[in-house]
Amino acid sequence: MISVFYFSGTGNTAWAVRRLCDYLSERGEETKLYSIDIKECPGDEELLHIIKNSDIIGIAYPIYGANIPPIMIKFISKIKGIKCKNEIPTKKIFMLNTFGYVNAFGPVAAKKIWKSSGFDMLAYINVRLTDNTSNKDQTDIAKIRMQAAELELQKSAEALAKKEKYIKGYGFYLLPGIIIRRITRPLIKDNYKNMFIEKQLCNKCGICIENCTAQAITYVNNEIIFTSDCTACRRCLNTCPQKAVKQKKG
Ligand SMILES: Cc1cc2nc3c(=O)[nH]c(=O)nc-3n(C[C@H](O)[C@H](O)[C@H](O)COP(=O)(O)O)c2cc1C
Repeated sequence: MISVFYFSGTGNTAWAVRRLCDYLSERGEETKLYSIDIKECPGDEELLHIIKNSDIIGIAYPIYGANIPPIMIKFISKIKGIKCKNEIPTKKIFMLNTFGYVNAFGPVAAKKIWKSSGFDMLAYINVRLTDNTSNKDQTDIAKIRMQAAELELQKSAEALAKKEKYIKGYGFYLLPGIIIRRITRPLIKDNYKNMFIEKQLCNKCGICIENCTAQAITYVNNEIIFTSDCTACRRCLNTCPQKAVKQKKG
């Protein structure tokens, strides 16, 4: 069984892991996907059961500020803790990141995260899709990148099915990544301060609240408020039917 935990703000990573699982299924592998959105993430007991019963565990996420998004870093430390506490033998793990312009983080830093945790990194899959921080129409770019991504996902599924090492994502981008990471870390943490609702457009349908990956949007005195749990994922901006969710420039 290959169990994949993923975080996806706007759908790119969700698409990539679904396609990867399709390719793995074609190769006879049993797969299961788990979103780690706050409302959907399995509880500790279930996580323990999943970890124990998986041959390979996958962790998939979009790159945020040349790094793993904070919500996924939290989740990784949770599963490391569960595995350590329950003395589960070494497990094979793979990571998959989607990104829009500079991956940067790469397998070098990913390795650090799993060091001495009893997880053995089998693959690092690096998939370039559209940049969801851009407001430009990216339909054509999306098509081209998705085609390239399909090939990459097929190759990685083949390697995973054979339990062969498949490490991608090394590159000179690590250097600009260190700078991007330093600059953007506080911006991502404080993103909620830049989020606001354009009152004339909002019809209080509550779709932003329902869809929030981190349950960071709430009503206070009949007003929609963003709290510090915000992960900066941009799902609220993408799914508001009224286009009433706005973001001030950081
Ligand atoms: C807060 C934030 C920070 C981002 N930082 C980067 C970055 O440093 N490098 C990059 O290539 N893409 C960056 N992106 C773009 C996303 O990584 C990319 O669009 C990703 O595929 C989105 O995946 P999702 O749709 O699963 O959320 C960022 C996106 C967000 C929302």
